[in-house]
Amino acid sequence: MTIGMLGAGAMARAIARHLIAGGSTVILSNRRGPDSLAPTVAELGPGARAGTVEDAAAQSIVFIAIPWSQLPSTLGRIPSWNNRIVVDTTNPIEPPHYTVADLGGRTSSEVVRDMVPGARLVKAFNTLTPAVIARDPREAGGHRVIFYSGDDEDAKAQVGALLAACGFAGVDLGDLATGARLQQFPGGPLPALNLIKLG
Ligand SMILES: NC(=O)c1ccc[n+]([C@@H]2O[C@H](COP(=O)([O-])OP(=O)(O)OC[C@H]3O[C@@H](n4cnc5c(N)ncnc54)[C@H](OP(=O)(O)O)[C@@H]3O)[C@@H](O)[C@H]2O)c1
Repeated sequence: MTIGMLGAGAMARAIARHLIAGGSTVILSNRRGPDSLAPTVAELGPGARAGTVEDAAAQSIVFIAIPWSQLPSTLGRIPSWNNRIVVDTTNPIEPPHYTVADLGGRTSSEVVRDMVPGARLVKAFNTLTPAVIARDPREAGGHRVIFYSGDDEDAKAQVGALLAACGFAGVDLGDLATGARLQQFPGGPLPALNLIKLG
């Protein structure tokens, strides 16, 4: 399976490493263009490729790992999402000022869902830092928990299978309205909770 990655920063690289170890090929993309990604691709090894945002967004599963402020302009460049699965790892806050975006009372992933019309959105990975995600998910006799939520059961099943292939314990929180509120950062109860599921 080839997976697209919008972003090639700390979060994107942490996730890509596990996806590649789990048997996927990952096309990473960034703002500066594919040539700037040569060191990242070399670091991640044979399963990693560099591409444009459009190349990454054309894959059947696309991770979003770019800053919140960049979402409208970047996602708006993609003409059609065609039922593809989009995994939202973002939080509505970013350096250097860490001002929380005005979401009009919605969760951040409901806002992102509206930016990818026709895609099947699954929220995942946003509750942990890249440093924690990068670690071996097999720890203390169990597997690191990654929460996920979304409205499309098939999309969630595919994301759950990907998580399992990487060694994570995926925990399905239900639909986006319910799960994304639990995962919401800041404000939800689950961010920064680093859990190991035993067994
Ligand atoms: N860091 C955390 O603790 C953490 C925790 C949970 C969730 N997240 C979420 O993860 C996402 C990524 O954060 P990060 O920490 O990985 O940030 P990061 O290390 O600063 O990386 C950001 C990446 O996004 C790319 N990018 C920026 N603007 C872009 C654009 N317009 N088009 C295409 N690519 C663009 C950057 O490319 P260039 O290098 O070319 O600019 C870079 O590869 C954010 O939404 C954040 O909220 C982060």
